[in-house]
Amino acid sequence: SLYDFGMIGLGVMGRNLLLNMADHGFSVIGFDKDATKNAALESAATAGTTVKGVAELATMIQLLQRPRRVMMLVPAGQPVDDVIASLLPLLEPGDVIIDGGNSHYTDTLRRVKYLREKQLHFMGIGVSGGEMGARTGPAIMPGGDKEAYEKVRPMLEAVAAKVKGEPCVAYLGKEGAGHYVKMVHNGIEYGIMQLISEAYALLQQAGLDNDQLHKIFDSWNKGPLQSFLVEITADIFLQKDDKTDKRLVDVISDKAGSKGTGKWTSQDAMDLPVAIPVIDTAVALRTLSGYKEERVQAAALYEAPAARINTPADTWIQQVHDALYFGTIMSYAQGLAMLRKASDELKMEIPLPQVVKVWRGGCIIRSVLLETFANAYVQSPDLPNILLNKEVAAMVQPIETNTRTAIAQAAQAGVPVAGIMAALSYFDAYRTERMPTNLVQAQRDYFGAHTYQRIDMPGTFHTVWEQH
Ligand code: 6PG
Repeated sequence: SLYDFGMIGLGVMGRNLLLNMADHGFSVIGFDKDATKNAALESAATAGTTVKGVAELATMIQLLQRPRRVMMLVPAGQPVDDVIASLLPLLEPGDVIIDGGNSHYTDTLRRVKYLREKQLHFMGIGVSGGEMGARTGPAIMPGGDKEAYEKVRPMLEAVAAKVKGEPCVAYLGKEGAGHYVKMVHNGIEYGIMQLISEAYALLQQAGLDNDQLHKIFDSWNKGPLQSFLVEITADIFLQKDDKTDKRLVDVISDKAGSKGTGKWTSQDAMDLPVAIPVIDTAVALRTLSGYKEERVQAAALYEAPAARINTPADTWIQQVHDALYFGTIMSYAQGLAMLRKASDELKMEIPLPQVVKVWRGGCIIRSVLLETFANAYVQSPDLPNILLNKEVAAMVQPIETNTRTAIAQAAQAGVPVAGIMAALSYFDAYRTERMPTNLVQAQRDYFGAHTYQRIDMPGTFHTVWEQH
């Protein structure tokens, strides 16, 4: 008998997603050139499920039901094109190819068009949740061909995380929308991770140790900051190192890695354009973390401010909590505003209410906040920015003062909190009716005759500016 679904690439994500599918009653087959991975797949299968691993792509394709439904989970870039090239002679019109990796959406667009000519469906699907998520319920962000989505919908709905009985998967737009939404998800992820690291630095300044940090993040995870990232942060502080008698977090190098999705988010935001300074800052600070040798030199060259954070611990913890909460809301606001803009500009028709609903479970940025955002979009699906929603405003307003106080203290003590600062400055600019950019316009007209508009009459003007 033939198999329901095929997977190309049996690394951590591919294997776990396939096993998850098998657990939900689908018969699945995986292909990897590496025979040990095929064996690993079969031996990890739950008893009574139908799971097979093969080392020949053609064998897998022959063993699939028509129309064939195959997903690849291989590194983004050339490997995806290589897989497509090897599939072409084996598939027939109507078959569905899914790319479940972190591909750039422009590559996905190109592949959708190329394969459409060959009468094959190609879908870019974002999958979030890491190894555990893939095995037990990820968030799934499909985009592309609606017809193709219907063919794989039962499988995706079965394996996705569930929130209040609803699967964390929905059709999220045309063409490259799935990978676009995943890219922005990762941008928000970068933003929140940067903000959490700043909260960590601020709490450490007040002399709190890892056990206390664990307790603080654990208690935060029981309140409005409840989220996957805050939850794992609490765990991290307790992890013992197996090589020394220290906590693991204290012996990890501060050079942060990245695979590109955060950078892509910033690059694309600039092109749209849309302002996402919290995400930009997060990308920049990961980059700066890599300049270790220079930072060591600068640390020796510049004396740190003498000022210390002297707020009583309980008050300080609340202020840092509010600053993190404030920043987190801004990170989501910027990412979602980006999706709104991209949906129109790139003609992807991304349904924002569905995006936030999908993000409520399974993914790295899942949090209780998304429930509020989901309500905001139910009220007005075309909301340009969640900060314009009354419920969101009611959340932001009470934590504003503490955010300002935390930033002021951080600045005095010389603790870098660029992410939280970017969040506050973004907010202050966004809620400003008249920005000082009238002066920028005057300067542009002064040196470049770039013209300007007036506030009191229509038209475009240029002035021959007097030198004094
Ligand atoms: C997810 C993650 C996942 C991966 C990122 C990490 O949603 O499950 O975002 O896709 O962990 O690629 O990205 P960096 O290596 O760039 O931090």
